[in-house]
Amino acid sequence: MPYNEPMFYWGSSTSAHQVEGGNENDWTEWEKRNAARLAEEAPRKFGALPNWQHIKAAATNPENYISGDAVGHYERYEEDFDIAKSLGQNAHRFSLEWSRIEPVEGRFDEQELRHYRDVLSALRERGIEPFVTLSHFTLPAWLAEKGGVLATEFPAHFIRYAEKVVSALGENVRFWITMNEPEIYAFNSYYRGVWPPEERSVISFYRAIANLIRAHRRAYHLIKSMFPKSSVGAAFNMSDFQSAGGFVNNLLTKIAKLAWNEHFLRHTRRHLDFVGVNYYFHNLVRYGFNKNENRAVSDMGWEIFPGGLYYVLMELKRYRLPIFVTENGVADARDEKRAVFIRDHVAALARAKREGADVRGYFYWSLLDNFEWDKGFWPKFGLVSVDRHTMKRTMRASANEYKKIIQSTNF
Ligand code: BGC
Repeated sequence: MPYNEPMFYWGSSTSAHQVEGGNENDWTEWEKRNAARLAEEAPRKFGALPNWQHIKAAATNPENYISGDAVGHYERYEEDFDIAKSLGQNAHRFSLEWSRIEPVEGRFDEQELRHYRDVLSALRERGIEPFVTLSHFTLPAWLAEKGGVLATEFPAHFIRYAEKVVSALGENVRFWITMNEPEIYAFNSYYRGVWPPEERSVISFYRAIANLIRAHRRAYHLIKSMFPKSSVGAAFNMSDFQSAGGFVNNLLTKIAKLAWNEHFLRHTRRHLDFVGVNYYFHNLVRYGFNKNENRAVSDMGWEIFPGGLYYVLMELKRYRLPIFVTENGVADARDEKRAVFIRDHVAALARAKREGADVRGYFYWSLLDNFEWDKGFWPKFGLVSVDRHTMKRTMRASANEYKKIIQSTNF
């Protein structure tokens, strides 16, 4: 990665399963099995949210939990990239769907690789720099059956997939992200048991992380050996942890930072050209986590705390790696908070940058409304809303505010 590159990348992110539609992977079956249960549990889980009345109809409908056609991005990517371009964005982060590329173990689908080649060309034609994620939470069904990321041979499977993809697409990709949020993935899938394969075990959680670390390291060296000029990183979920004061809280804060933000990073720091930061959460630590004031919250009840991004970025300085904010976004169906949300987070980023954090880009999550995993379609993160009956795209007002921020910020 050239350290003197003047370009700042402004973009938005998506992931394959959340937007493409028509996928067949480990989530697809899980969604069908769990839709009715998730709809039934919604009042208990979300009933206390201030905007429950607006969410209720969607959240209690089992259909909400089936990704199905998603938002039809697989067919409509050109239209979507036209929108991104019209919004002044010069970069776009998206993920490749492993289950499309390798639907059967060891058998690669050339047509799907061609599809992603077309996607990359469509971005390049519009002057948009692609940031490509190899794996964003989903696995091919055959791999899930073999034990998914816990399988001893998982790193080998990941490398074979990566090699195929990078040789097919590498000419057109400069920025690779091996995987998205390994810690969130392992936590939700193997410790909390709320995502497939629904395990609840600390041991499985750590085994998953260990295998993901192995897979990342090997993928890093593979990609660099094939395309030495490429930049390879991973996207981490990084939270801000602030102690409420006192010995116990200070200690808990330190442990949380090490265990959550830095564990994976410390084991991969020599196998990274950049750090991707997905920033959503702040935690005030007062004899426990998340003791927040919650003065402003999203539709999902997540606290909006832009200042935390500043602290997260400042703490990464000591790793001496370029940083991209690869995700930052808010669920806000009525678009009342998004413009201020983006403005305040970019201000926090700018402050960190002024104080020496080597931040090279900002990607809003998400370009489009999409399938929010076990919450389905009701949370609306998009700069662009999508009517899922007609697939019509409508720009939200905040999308233009983001455009103005891009145009008026000179990094
Ligand atoms: C994930 C996205 C998700 C977003 C909002 C991130 O943890 O990478 O897939 O949609 O958060 O929950």
